[in-house]
Amino acid sequence: MNKEFKRTLITTALPYTNGPVHIGHLAGVYIPADIYARYLRLAGRPVIMIGGSDEHGVPITLKAKAEGVTPQDIVDRYHAIIKKSFEELGISFDIYSRTTSGIHHETASEFFRHLYEKGEFEEKTTEQLYDPEAKQFLADRYVTGECPICHNPNAYGDQCEKCGTSLNATDLINPRSAISGAVPELRPTHHWYLPLNKWEPTLREWILNGHKEWKSNVYGQCKSWLDLGLQPRAVSRDLSWGVPVPVEGAEGKVLYVWFDAPIGYISNTKELLPDSWETWWKDPETRIINFIGKDNIVFHCIVFPSMLMAYGDNFQLPDNVPANEFLNLEGDKISTSRNWAVWLNEYLIDFPGKQDVLRYVLTANAPETKDNDFTWRDFQARNNNELAAILGNFVNRVVVLTHKYFDGKVPAEGKLLDIDREAYNEMQVLKTSLTENLENFHFREALKDAMGFARLGNKYLQECEPWKVFKIEPKRVETVLNVCAQICASIAIATEPFMPFAATKLAKIFSIADMQWDMLATKPVAAGTALGQPELLFEKIDDETIKKQTDRLEEIKKQNALKAYKPEPVKAEIGIPEFEKLDIRIGTVLSCERVPKADKLLKFSIDDGTGTPRTIVSGIAQHYQPEQLTGKQVCFIANLAPAKIRGVVSQGMILSALNSDGSLRVISPADKATNGAQVK
Ligand code: 2FM
Ligand code: ZN
Repeated sequence: MNKEFKRTLITTALPYTNGPVHIGHLAGVYIPADIYARYLRLAGRPVIMIGGSDEHGVPITLKAKAEGVTPQDIVDRYHAIIKKSFEELGISFDIYSRTTSGIHHETASEFFRHLYEKGEFEEKTTEQLYDPEAKQFLADRYVTGECPICHNPNAYGDQCEKCGTSLNATDLINPRSAISGAVPELRPTHHWYLPLNKWEPTLREWILNGHKEWKSNVYGQCKSWLDLGLQPRAVSRDLSWGVPVPVEGAEGKVLYVWFDAPIGYISNTKELLPDSWETWWKDPETRIINFIGKDNIVFHCIVFPSMLMAYGDNFQLPDNVPANEFLNLEGDKISTSRNWAVWLNEYLIDFPGKQDVLRYVLTANAPETKDNDFTWRDFQARNNNELAAILGNFVNRVVVLTHKYFDGKVPAEGKLLDIDREAYNEMQVLKTSLTENLENFHFREALKDAMGFARLGNKYLQECEPWKVFKIEPKRVETVLNVCAQICASIAIATEPFMPFAATKLAKIFSIADMQWDMLATKPVAAGTALGQPELLFEKIDDETIKKQTDRLEEIKKQNALKAYKPEPVKAEIGIPEFEKLDIRIGTVLSCERVPKADKLLKFSIDDGTGTPRTIVSGIAQHYQPEQLTGKQVCFIANLAPAKIRGVVSQGMILSALNSDGSLRVISPADKATNGAQVK
């Protein structure tokens, strides 16, 4: 920050209400924004944090259509779920509103009209994709096709999710309507365009020269956009769901969702502060910070700033746009449509009281500089080995020892030794680093610093060994436990932005009424303070709890594989004589065992009706336990040339079906058949 600001306006990307929010949203936007807002509040700096639901746009109308309900039903349902789950996670919005609100419709309409009247738009009639079956124009996600850049066959009309390129629907190769599957045709339609090219020189100066401190992913994306040259961008669409275009002759047209959504930040500020909202948007001493995901960079750094500049009236541009990369889940891209996510509302039910654990893990593993992966094993390990074993354990030991030796009252500090002074010095160093990391949006590092207080506490306690010293020199233990109480107070303050629930409990145990950043590394706990009873701040999470979650994901993976399954193309045609060359028979498995040192092989002994058991080796050991198949009837090819496999002569092949998820299932006759019977 190279300038003094009086206040900070934090905005958080407005999530689409076509589903609940998931860990990707949280790690990318809401937890970092909340950490920053909480830090500023503790530091006594004026701040408001604005949130809300993005309730227009094609993802919502598509979902409504799929369910046979209205878009309003969809947004009402998910807005309520999202709002409640954010509250329960402790995301401290000053307001969480929605873009279907009256105030937002008025604000967005007024914004458009103002630009229209100032002559800031270009109007053009162009050929756009039209679905002749659904009888509507196809914009954005209403159309899918092949990406012209990376040739992903499932790119959307506004973006290819594979290579991240922002597209126009007419760029797609072989486009298809997402509504009817029809091949679209081109029809003329009239729209309003914001000439981004007009703002290019100002944007260049503002970002490329003025904001070299922005994160490299944000700066880099802006630079490549600017270097490619900006084009006018349509800000209206032929749709019925959205804010109607507020000019004559615009029936059936609404504002493009990416035009109205960022105005939502302004509408929501107005709703929160009807009398003073302008101070937060127009006073140059306000610092605006937009927290977003990486797919929103261009809209926040190029499009919305162009809109604000076109509007004029002293609207301020963001001072920083700390966008994160993406979080994956168990090695796979998070996806609402594939249900590949950990949903916040479900997490809160499955892990009651463990909001801080999720906040902690998502911060410790935040995709700040590159995409990262969330795994349930890592979640468990971080809870058990870090939160429970380091933080929880230290606080618990301090409380237990204070109860044991001093009746639960914090003893007074006596003469300080080097080790005590060293602890205070180290706390000071941690405070400096923590503050600097928070100021620079390096929340992963900041969390390490915050946990550093707990690590320091454990080390200090271990070195001072009050449980040994008490017998010889109880006075010394008074000082040690006083220092420990002060470390606990610092832990409460330092961790509050990250884990507000644990921090509040901790502050209560140590009677710290009003936590402030300045108190960090000081001595806010008065001697004589009566501590509450010891309580565990973090409990261990067992394997069974984690298995439930990984089993759920396995099941989803199977369902997705099934949905995406396309049977292999049929092989070249053959005649009956060729088919009849294959001698397929029925046999009963007499015994079945694993082939030593071969993970994939099972050895079968089969009653093939000849009286002499037949041996067949089959590569299905990863799909069946031997005992599952014993006694079953199977189909096998009887006239396959014998082959030696791992020293065993296999006389045929057992037939199996290869499933969508890669599993093999042995083929059995539907009813009992005679061993040796030919399969016709
Ligand atoms: O990407 C998204 O989920 C959008 N709904 C974000 C909108 S951010 C802002 F402009 F409202
Ligand atoms: Zn692509």
